[in-house]
Amino acid sequence: MSNEADPRKVSASEAFEAAFGRAPEAVAWAPGRVNLIGEHTDYNEGIVLPAALERGIVVAAAARGDGIVRAVSQRYGGPVEVGRTLGGPRHLELPSWAAYVRAVAREVVGAAPSGPGADLWIGGDLSSAAGLSSSAALVVASALALAETARVENPAVDTIAFAQMVRLVEHRAGTLCGIMDPLVVLEGRRGCALRIDCRSLEIAEVPLPPEIVLVVCDSGVERSLAQSAYNRRRDECEVARGALERLSGRSLRSLRDATRDDLAILGHAFPGELYRRARHVVEENDRVDRLVDALWRNDREAAGRLMDASHESLRHDFEVSTAELDELVDDARGAAGCWGTRMTGAGFGGCTVSLVDRDAAPAFMAHMDQAFRARYSRSPRPFASSAGDGARLLQ
Ligand code: GLA
Repeated sequence: MSNEADPRKVSASEAFEAAFGRAPEAVAWAPGRVNLIGEHTDYNEGIVLPAALERGIVVAAAARGDGIVRAVSQRYGGPVEVGRTLGGPRHLELPSWAAYVRAVAREVVGAAPSGPGADLWIGGDLSSAAGLSSSAALVVASALALAETARVENPAVDTIAFAQMVRLVEHRAGTLCGIMDPLVVLEGRRGCALRIDCRSLEIAEVPLPPEIVLVVCDSGVERSLAQSAYNRRRDECEVARGALERLSGRSLRSLRDATRDDLAILGHAFPGELYRRARHVVEENDRVDRLVDALWRNDREAAGRLMDASHESLRHDFEVSTAELDELVDDARGAAGCWGTRMTGAGFGGCTVSLVDRDAAPAFMAHMDQAFRARYSRSPRPFASSAGDGARLLQ
C-alpha cells in the first residue's frame, strides 16, 4: 500500500479548511451505484444485482464542542446549521441534503454522552437526483465521518444494522425504499456486481467480465414525482400480494413467493394493472440469476436480451420508464461494443446503464451524446466506470 494520501481526501480537506478555517478530523467516501438487473424487486424480498460506481460522495468532518452540527455543500452552498445534538431549536425547513445530514447526526451521535456537534463539508463527483443513490451515499459517508469525529463505534462494524439505519433515514425523508442501495454502497467490491438476496440479506460477489465497463447516461429528468410514484408502486405490489393470497388460498409473505402459476390465476381475476405489476416482479426476479449466469459465461447476447427484457418490463408492466429513458435505450441497442442497456434505479427519470466493451466505450459515449443532443439539445453526460469498492474512511 502506498503512503500517499488519497487525492479525494486531499481536496476535501482543503475545501473543509477553506470553509471552516481548520483541518478535518475524518474524511469518508461512499460510492453511488447502478443496478444491473432486479429492479423494484428489493422491497418484494427478491434478488438484485447492483454494482458500486467509482463516483461518489465525500464528507469531511471535525467535532465542535458546542453541540451544533453545521454543514457546507460543495453543490448547494451553506453553511447551514442542521441541528443541535444538545437540544435547542429544531429547524423545520431545511434543504433536503441538509435534512439527511440532520437525520444521520441524530442517529449516529445524537445519543453520544457528550452530545458533540460537528462541522461537515460535503462534496464529490456523483450527480444528485439522478437515480444513482446519491442520498444513500450521502447518509453513509456522513455517518462514517460523524462517528469517527464523535468517537462512537464505527457503524460499519455491523453492515446489516448500518444498512437498516440508512434505509430508516430514507424512509423518514419520505421514500419507502428497499435495502439494495445501502447494502451495495457499503459492500461494493472492485470489479464485481453484488447478487443480494433481499430476503436472507445474503450477498455474493459476481465478478464482471474484465473487458467491460459500465456506462451511465443521464436522462436529465429530475425525479420530482419519484417519491410518491415509487411509494405507489410499493402499495400496488402489496395489493397484488394480498389478492394472490386470497385467490390461491396460500399465504404469501411477499411477491417473492409468487409463481408463474399464481400469475396466471391473478391475470384471470385482475387482467389489468395489478397483473402487470406482479408479472414484472416475478419475471424480473427470474432474470437476475439468468444474467448472473450470462456474465459468468461471457455470453453477451444473453446478457443483452435479459437487459432488454428487463427494460421492456419496467416500461410496459411496471410503468416507471420515461420517453427519454426509452430513447437512450433505443440509441444504445445495437451500438458497437454494447452488450446491453436498461434504465437503472427507481425510474421516473434518472439514468440508463450499459455494459460496454472497454475499448469501445469512448465511441459509444460519443454516439450516445450525439443522438440525445440531436433530440433534446442537451448532453446525457455519459460516463464510464468500473465496478468499485464500497464506502470507507479515507486514509
Ligand atoms: C430505488 C430504491 C431501491 C430500489 C430501486 C428500484 O433506488 O432506493 O430500494 O427499490 O429504487 O429497484
